[in-house]
Amino acid sequence: MNSSTDAFIRQLAATAGEVGKALPHESAALHVAGEASYIDDLPELAGTLHAALGLSPLAHGRLLGIDLEALRALPGVVAVFSAADIPGPNDCGPIVHDDPILAEGEVHYLGQPVFAVIAADRDVARRVAARAKEFLRIEPLPAVLTAREAHAQGRYVLPPAHLTREQSPGATRAAIVSAPHRLQGSLSVGGQEQFYLEGQISYAVPLEGGALRVHCSTQHPSEMQHAVAHALLLPANAVQVECRRMGGGFGGKESQSALFACVAALAASKLRRPVKLRADRDDDFMITGRRHGFEYDWELGFDDAGRILGVEIDLISNAGFSADLSGPVMTRALCHFDNAYWLPNVSMHGYSARTNTQSNTAFRGFGGPQGAIAIECILEAVARALGKDPLEVRRANFYGVGERDLTPYGQRVEDNIAAPMVDELVAQSGYAARRGEIAAWNAQSPVLKRGLALSPVKFGISFNVKHFNQAGALVHIYTDGSVLVNHGGTEMGQGLNTKVAQVVAHELGLPLARVRCTATDTTKVANTSATAASTGADLNGKAAQDAARQLRERLAAFVAQRAGGIDAAAIRFADSQVLLPDGTPLPFDTVVADAYAERVQLWSDGFYATPGLHWNRETLQGKPFHYFAYGAAVSEVVVDTLSGEYRLLRADLLHDVGRSLNPAIDIGQVEGAFIQGMGWLTMEELVWHPQSGALLTHAPSTYKIPTANDAPPIFNTRLFEGENPADSIHRSKAVGEPPLLLAFSVWLAIRDAISAAGDHRVDPPLRAPATPEAVLDAIEVVMR
Ligand code: MTE
Ligand code: HPA
Ligand code: MOS
Repeated sequence: MNSSTDAFIRQLAATAGEVGKALPHESAALHVAGEASYIDDLPELAGTLHAALGLSPLAHGRLLGIDLEALRALPGVVAVFSAADIPGPNDCGPIVHDDPILAEGEVHYLGQPVFAVIAADRDVARRVAARAKEFLRIEPLPAVLTAREAHAQGRYVLPPAHLTREQSPGATRAAIVSAPHRLQGSLSVGGQEQFYLEGQISYAVPLEGGALRVHCSTQHPSEMQHAVAHALLLPANAVQVECRRMGGGFGGKESQSALFACVAALAASKLRRPVKLRADRDDDFMITGRRHGFEYDWELGFDDAGRILGVEIDLISNAGFSADLSGPVMTRALCHFDNAYWLPNVSMHGYSARTNTQSNTAFRGFGGPQGAIAIECILEAVARALGKDPLEVRRANFYGVGERDLTPYGQRVEDNIAAPMVDELVAQSGYAARRGEIAAWNAQSPVLKRGLALSPVKFGISFNVKHFNQAGALVHIYTDGSVLVNHGGTEMGQGLNTKVAQVVAHELGLPLARVRCTATDTTKVANTSATAASTGADLNGKAAQDAARQLRERLAAFVAQRAGGIDAAAIRFADSQVLLPDGTPLPFDTVVADAYAERVQLWSDGFYATPGLHWNRETLQGKPFHYFAYGAAVSEVVVDTLSGEYRLLRADLLHDVGRSLNPAIDIGQVEGAFIQGMGWLTMEELVWHPQSGALLTHAPSTYKIPTANDAPPIFNTRLFEGENPADSIHRSKAVGEPPLLLAFSVWLAIRDAISAAGDHRVDPPLRAPATPEAVLDAIEVVMR
């Protein structure tokens, strides 16, 4: 991948300390050597038992009974637990309490865990659990399997959410009706499986006095602690949750690691033995939810320049059987429908449809991609209706600077850099010339058609639930001068620990090699937020900086006093030295050892809460985001109009990470997110059996994620030169999720190629994912 290195070098020159350097991931060597340990790599304690879950064979039904006696009598079975064995509330829902740990009374989807089998041997437990339907008595009830069907019946997991912002009451409708041009349409966008390489897993170990330690692959250790404590009627101080790293989370372990933690903990506490629950890949697919698929119906009015005058849209998400995080996901979708565009009159209606399928949850972007893709699709329809290049229509609708800058939810877009970034990318990618070349190429190519598209991104950074925007950290300096950091964030491959360690090293003037991050542990930093909403480094970086700064100031005060009252503020920490105002260097390690001897506290805590946020959940108005992250992408594809197959030929990405904490990690995040987003929109198709409701695509054999071969042969990734105008950690910007939206350009380029097959007369009715079948369906329409 020929990512530009000039940004790296400039960043390197610009900074002295460890922040801003393109340093390798803290575990890179361990990852490639296979030495990085995941939950299943932990040495098993003597007496460890294994759990497997018995799943509902029906999508909906009344649970009349479980033949527990027969199950318990099977060879090798140590115990079988059902909902009746849970001492506390049978609930592991993150917000609304409608998520049973084990089914009780009713089963709500095919794959819902009903009982847990415990055996000394994992294989025995799994074989017994796989026979679930022989032991379950379930009276079938009618199942609702699609969001459209649920919406038609008014079945929702939460009350509908409405976000309307108009110049005067009723102005949206009036603008649509009186506009020079009017269009309506609909769109269907599928869900996406997180497909973390390490599946859901928890290993619960009983401790003395009824306490428990749970090793859990989770983005949210504190919530796992609370879920376990709640279900087992334990105080939170009796439950320790620990996670060194995940083999990927992607949102799938924000809330849905809870069921696994609770079942392992239940069995461990009942049997007083360590119990491990590791879901097999197929079971992971069948049990857990994923990105919400969305359906859209929209109508708008626009002028001759393609400027939107009024737009109305229904967004219908497939929430699955329970609420999980569907509420905040829908809120984020509504707050991202505007993407980079000023909408003078807009009326959005969000419906989280209740279906008899897995409960959908967080996935990279958290509804943001599902909101923004709709406006991109709408602007393409406008461009085709007017016979304009979609880029021209996009530019006509961009937010302004100082005007036309108010989002539908009432926050101003103060640093709108989408427009200049698009200009820069247009120049870098040769967009205009390639547009002409592609048109000429298509004119002489009847079967293969090329397509080109540019799409911008604006993504709001902060949790859209105010109280999650806080973090804590602990920094220890040992007497040899080595440093240990613990913070509330979790490492899932995104490089959070590397960034936080860089921040601490920078603050203390040490090389990164002197700083180590330890496992996230609820007994160290309490009441942590999920590592999510891309805020990991923003929040935990600031908290760790706070702790490290206190230590630096304490050491400086010690040195100043010892030197006879020199100005502590003039003492600097750099290159493993403590530098006195006259430039005299003292080795950091010596200063630390001396400070210890003089009884100076060499560890500190740190805390951070994002300032300036306010949000009214009822009116969906306020300032939900600390700032916005921006990006733009140009993609070029070639489509075979006879088979529907396509290739991504080239992608040019320009992404805004403010002043990068670590350009190597940030470019990895940008490229990874882009390819993951491309997978969502092009090849990852979820299919449920239309009658039984069984998820048919539940393994890599039937569910296709992108591979290295799907990366485009020309792949240019650049970081935009700039800094965060908001006071973020070293003026960087969050990077985890926003670049996933860059992949819109791939899907839009496929649409452009299909449109070319019909001489751009018809806006292609392309759904997502744009599988070859979907591409052929759309080609059939445009060529009619
Ligand atoms: N990158 C890797 N390698 N693995 C992951 O699981 N999760 C993504 C993103 N990048 C993920 C990832 C998601 S959904 C989020 S919210 C952020 O990382 C979380 O980490 P951060 O807040 O530290 O960026
Ligand atoms: N992102 C991820 N998780 C969340 C959010 C969000 O915006 N809000 C609440 N939980
Ligand atoms: Mo990411 S979807 O916020 O875990």
